[in-house]
Amino acid sequence: MQPLRSKTRCISIFFLLSCLLSYATAFNYLVVLHTGARSHYNVGSALAKGLAAAGHQVTIVSPFELKKPNPNITEVSVPSILEAMKGNTDNLLETSEKPILNQILGFYEMGINITKALLEDPTIKEFKKSKQTFDAVICEVFLNEALFGFAEHFNAPLIGLGTFGAISWNTDLVGSPSPPSYIPHALLKFSDHMSLVERVGNLAFLTYEEIFMNLYYLPKQEEVYRKYFPNNKQDFYDMRKNTALVLLNQHVSLSFPRPYSPNMIEVGGMHINRKRQPLPKDIEDFINGAEHGVIYFSMGSNLKSKNLPLEKRQALIETFGKLKQRVLWKFEDTNMPGKPANVFISDWFPQDDILAHKNVIAFITHGGLLSTTESIYHGKPFVGIPIFGDQFLNMARAESNGYGVTVNFKELTTEKLTNAIERIISTPEATQKVLDMSARYKDQKELPLERAVYWVEHVSRHKGAKYLRSASQDLNFVQYHNLDAILILYGGIIFILYCLMLLIRLAFRGLQEFFINRNSKASQDKSKKRN
Ligand SMILES: *[C@@H]1O[C@H](CO)[C@@H](O)[C@H](O)[C@H]1NC(C)=O
Ligand SMILES: *[C@@H]1O[C@H](CO)[C@@H](O)[C@H](O)[C@H]1NC(C)=O
Repeated sequence: MQPLRSKTRCISIFFLLSCLLSYATAFNYLVVLHTGARSHYNVGSALAKGLAAAGHQVTIVSPFELKKPNPNITEVSVPSILEAMKGNTDNLLETSEKPILNQILGFYEMGINITKALLEDPTIKEFKKSKQTFDAVICEVFLNEALFGFAEHFNAPLIGLGTFGAISWNTDLVGSPSPPSYIPHALLKFSDHMSLVERVGNLAFLTYEEIFMNLYYLPKQEEVYRKYFPNNKQDFYDMRKNTALVLLNQHVSLSFPRPYSPNMIEVGGMHINRKRQPLPKDIEDFINGAEHGVIYFSMGSNLKSKNLPLEKRQALIETFGKLKQRVLWKFEDTNMPGKPANVFISDWFPQDDILAHKNVIAFITHGGLLSTTESIYHGKPFVGIPIFGDQFLNMARAESNGYGVTVNFKELTTEKLTNAIERIISTPEATQKVLDMSARYKDQKELPLERAVYWVEHVSRHKGAKYLRSASQDLNFVQYHNLDAILILYGGIIFILYCLMLLIRLAFRGLQEFFINRNSKASQDKSKKRN
């Protein structure tokens, strides 16, 4: 009897302990994914699902909804954002024709518009009134600084999610150093090895952005922050600098080596699903039936085929019609006049699973970060038709690494596109290079999603992990660049050396005069004597 009783006691203590443990380690997270770009949502919702699978409760604020409801995820839907973004995404091609500085102005303005749209939404106003608490607020960082106010509002540390590469919007939050001598701005096409002219260009662009951000953009966001979070005590600029952690959708194997603060973690590709889902039957059959392989063509979720100018669409149809390969084309209309027999159209493709298929040999993409990452992951070379934002940079990188060919959208003709496709599919080295890169990328100690979940939990376990906050966050420009210390030390040394030189010169001159005087006196004496 005795052993059994102690056994049951053991079991019940174990049960109690495990209950306590799970109580202690299950957290409650708020994930704010404010943009109306589905690709950004895919990254953020992958993290949310990863946290949910680890047993945490997650609330997502977003204009989109999960394909499959998840018992551990509560969704707060804000479709009004899509409306606010419409002006920008509908005219993506027109926007891309404008000079880069104008484009950037529009880009930032769109950011302010969608930030306001989210906070103005009645669902969000109601949600803010709820008395919930969170163990961290994870907020996408994409021209939405006012939304960081959710963290203090819910009494939680702030975690930023950079869906873009490293850029001042996210590096400044944790003080990651970005020397302009070898870190090109994410919207320029430079590599990390810049010529003098490029370095001047990079510096000019960064200076322009810094001034623009500080004099125009951030004050606007501050205004929004003040209006919608009137009870928050933190100053807007302090709030930005108190970010506990930034998860960055990038990886050194896909970009270039650069320094980060220890609370800035690369989780690039965490949205890539390692478990393959079976393809829909018609797509599977189409791919399997391709004797010479399949090319997958998609310009992403923001650029709709209906917005493609007719002559460009014609060039695409003509090019694909002449290929031996079969083509999957993401096309939003149900019917394409003059569709070649070797082309399969659909308004939705499971991109990840398609790129994973061994018969798919190349990808034609806009060159966005997610598409290029997925293509590299699956070892498929690509042709890029960059339109906007960082797509030019990603394509420039792919081209210099030898597994990508760029076709300028303005110069898109049947001939140019055919040549680009031929170059990619007839050069085995291109495929080999991208396979090597894929192998380097996959050679990580843990999956990027596991790393992301671990760091989010780490911040919650250590109440904001303030010990990681870099002292650089408390320095102003002059102090950070040590300009005052440089002036005092080197200026001081130069001043002392200068004084010494002056003294020596004075002394020398004095001595010289003394000798001249003596000599002239002596000669005077001599001449006197002679006389
Ligand atoms: C939800 O959380 C529980 C633990 O609390 C976990 O066992 C389950 O797998 C999670 N479900 C999903 C779909 O992530
Ligand atoms: C932002 O909103 C204003 C006012 O609603 C509108 O006039 C402007 O065109 C919008 N800008 C962008 C880039 O969407």
